[in-house]
Amino acid sequence: MSTQKELVEATNKYLISNYGRLPIAMVRGRGSRLWDADGKEYIDMFVGFGFGGVCGHCHPKVTQAVVDQAQTLTAAGNYFTNPRQVELAQAIVTNAFGGKVFFCHSGAEANEAALKLARKAAGQGRYKIISFHNCFHGRTMGALSLTPEKFQKGFEPMLPGNVKVNYGDLDAVANAIDAETAAVILEPIQGEGGMHVPSKSFMQGLRQLCDKRNILMICDEVWTSPGRTGKWFAHQLFDIQPDVMTLGKAIGGGLPLAACVAAPKWQDVLGPGSHGCTGGGNPLCTAAGAAAMRLIEEENLLERATQVNKRVTSALTNCGASIVKEIRGSGVMIGVQLDKPGKGVFDTCLARGLYINCTQDTVLRLAPAMNITDADLDEALDILISVLKAQ
Ligand SMILES: Cc1ncc(COP(=O)(O)O)c(C=O)c1O
Repeated sequence: MSTQKELVEATNKYLISNYGRLPIAMVRGRGSRLWDADGKEYIDMFVGFGFGGVCGHCHPKVTQAVVDQAQTLTAAGNYFTNPRQVELAQAIVTNAFGGKVFFCHSGAEANEAALKLARKAAGQGRYKIISFHNCFHGRTMGALSLTPEKFQKGFEPMLPGNVKVNYGDLDAVANAIDAETAAVILEPIQGEGGMHVPSKSFMQGLRQLCDKRNILMICDEVWTSPGRTGKWFAHQLFDIQPDVMTLGKAIGGGLPLAACVAAPKWQDVLGPGSHGCTGGGNPLCTAAGAAAMRLIEEENLLERATQVNKRVTSALTNCGASIVKEIRGSGVMIGVQLDKPGKGVFDTCLARGLYINCTQDTVLRLAPAMNITDADLDEALDILISVLKAQ
């Protein structure tokens, strides 16, 4: 079984159809390039759905770290100290706000840990969580409860006590808080919701409100970190610190890894036996994540993310495609608001060997690796702009 057609047929036969899969089998990747089973080459501007967000596919240093670890130890369990976890946790807290880290596999699981931590920290009877319309926090029952209703259909009832307000509306948050509220959770940039960046005054006001009303502020940075907005962590764009931060996608350097980071005040809320994840932070994934964190420094990728944003924003702003209404985002998290559905643009780009994403019907998402080369970026922009202009 090796042709694309055979692989797609086998996928349809053996795999649950919960994803709206494209009829393409990706079999190889390198940097910002992907190849399908028929040998067609693509520029990946939505790299691994975020997983390759730091350094694209198969960076030699990440690959070497994984190979070395695979030849040394792949799993001993979380009753033992794991040097790779220590290395990565230290890199995270040093560049964030101190505190301690819990590792798991997926963004949704990281948010589950954050919810449990918030409920425990808040104390008996305080269980309500405020989240925002248009958000996305994952598909497990707790995370799903926070996420918009359209994802919940058929899976009700949700967790009790989830309250949703408009993103950016501080008064609405203030009005939603009551004696039973434990926390508010938000993405510092809404990804799935269309790459919306909140104002600094909203983020700082929210921080103050959480302090005043004694509730936890949880930043879901599964999409926005590490480094992807041009800052190590996106909350730093707003000069605030959350109480809890969740990480996923790119934190594993391409391997499945996620984390819940608790600020010093909350770092010991989850004591022994209160939470767990058997393979969470296993040596392979944390070795890859630690290697990716080192690359951010070694290759100056925070600055690179900012440069990429400037190049893309300038090219798209000046391209003369009337379909483009607004460019949003920060670093390598870029949203292109169109004045009509983007499916046609997506399909044509894909046919021409450019992989992007379309969300909320009319927003194109560009989320390249932070280390994308100028040559790859320019080629991607040439294709995208010619497709946009032809609409
Ligand atoms: C902001 C955010 N949080 C959480 C998740 C869930 O992550 P996962 O699919 O790894 O569970 C996602 C997934 O896209 C996300 O965008």
